[in-house]
Amino acid sequence: MRKQLLLGALAAMASTAMAASPVTITLDVNDESPIIQKEIYGQFAEHLGTCIYGGIWVGPDSDIPNTDGYRNDVLQAFRELKVPVLRWPGGCFADEYHWMDGIGPRENRPRMVNNNWGGTVEDNSFGTHEFFNLCEMLGCEPYLSGNVGSGTVEELAKWVEYITAADGPMAKLRAENGRKEPWHLKYLGVGNESWGCGGNFTPDYYANVYRRYQTYCRNFNGNRLYKIASGASDYDYNWTEVLMRDAGRFMDGISLHYYTVTTWSGSKGAATKFDDDAYYWTLGKCLEIEDVIKKHVDIMDRYDRRGHVGLLVDEWGTWWDEEPGTIRGHLYQQNTMRDAMVAALSLNVFHNYTRRVKMTNIAQIANVLQSMVLTKGDQMVLTPTYYVFKMYVPHQDAKLVPVDVNTAYRKVDGGRLVPNVSATASVKDGVYSISLTNVDLNETQPVEIALPAGMKNAKVTGEILTCANIADYNDFGQPEKVSLKAFKGAKVENGKLKLTMPAKSIITLSVK
Ligand code: AHR
Repeated sequence: MRKQLLLGALAAMASTAMAASPVTITLDVNDESPIIQKEIYGQFAEHLGTCIYGGIWVGPDSDIPNTDGYRNDVLQAFRELKVPVLRWPGGCFADEYHWMDGIGPRENRPRMVNNNWGGTVEDNSFGTHEFFNLCEMLGCEPYLSGNVGSGTVEELAKWVEYITAADGPMAKLRAENGRKEPWHLKYLGVGNESWGCGGNFTPDYYANVYRRYQTYCRNFNGNRLYKIASGASDYDYNWTEVLMRDAGRFMDGISLHYYTVTTWSGSKGAATKFDDDAYYWTLGKCLEIEDVIKKHVDIMDRYDRRGHVGLLVDEWGTWWDEEPGTIRGHLYQQNTMRDAMVAALSLNVFHNYTRRVKMTNIAQIANVLQSMVLTKGDQMVLTPTYYVFKMYVPHQDAKLVPVDVNTAYRKVDGGRLVPNVSATASVKDGVYSISLTNVDLNETQPVEIALPAGMKNAKVTGEILTCANIADYNDFGQPEKVSLKAFKGAKVENGKLKLTMPAKSIITLSVK
């Protein structure tokens, strides 16, 4: 990576001139490489706008085709992504959620005001059972965000008992509500954004609160909780420092939130209308997550030399202005090929830090921020970001193959450097998966990849995501404007994989 930066910095001024000479990539195949944790492909579903209600859950009596209340189209889309872990119920919502209101017969559940997100009144018809059943249907790990801000220690302790105990009063209550067998629960978040919407704590105070809450979250009948402290917002290194110092030995993971956002005060810009400079700025901001991760990891390394505590980027993605005409506070935004680029570049970074970054959760899975699917009534579209996650499925639980990319860089507004071509690679069962991104809006990019020895006659197949205009997106009238296509332009010659990447394209190659 260092070599990539040096070469890139030298070439930064000459990106157009260099376009004709091939980008060369080498693969560093070695047995010491870590496995890319599949949880890096985690998702996040909050009670926010139409993420849960309408986007995932329509109820069993809905006219929209569903299975036990879950939309069939959305279920199918999520299954194809092999979602490994789903975080719920928030976000900010989590610290005002009282789980007892969401169990028992649905018609008896109290209604509630979602104070964080537009004051929308919810009927609690999607609660603990509905969430855990969804995870079972998707075959994914549940990740529960507990209420610390406005809840009690007892409330959180009893939620864990309700979900995981085989016997006792909470288990009895669960059985009365239709579920005799305990569920499996690994990931437990102790609060969310505790420095902000989750209680406005100081780090010292939260560290003590965290220690107290986690004490009473027990491991019942062999269930082993992986306890996650509410971590920093992007550049708040002091939060990580204090948490690791005062509570590091009581946690399995600490979170980090990093959004690709222009500002927290005022307009963030439209998702679908932006100029070239804004596009490249977005990529620079997105890539800065690498430096942010590195700095948090450096702090963690000082307090946790053996690398026991995971860094979980449990909220990330783009955050634009809400679409005109949508409900304020519902964070419904469109998703263009620019968002797809952000997804690919971010995942590439996460792969490289998989030793410490044990999970990430893009915000959010449906109808909110950088989502996988958008729904309107009985219609659903897959976003460009969805297709990136689909193309990257082969990297889940595969062995990382570090890459060296010799490419030109572009200096963008704000001084950040953005490589023209980025790459990530992994290997599983003898099949190499190589994902490439050409962010250049105009230039095609010839690429040559030196394959490992013994792959002289390798077979290659590929998929490509590209578009006519970088602001292209899928909508209900044009659901396939940006979609995955087979890519047949790669060939193996003398142990080299050669291809030409179209401008603004993402390609995954499978080589065996
Ligand atoms: O993802 C939307 C919100 O962003 C979450 O609720 C909160 O944790 C963060 O500020």
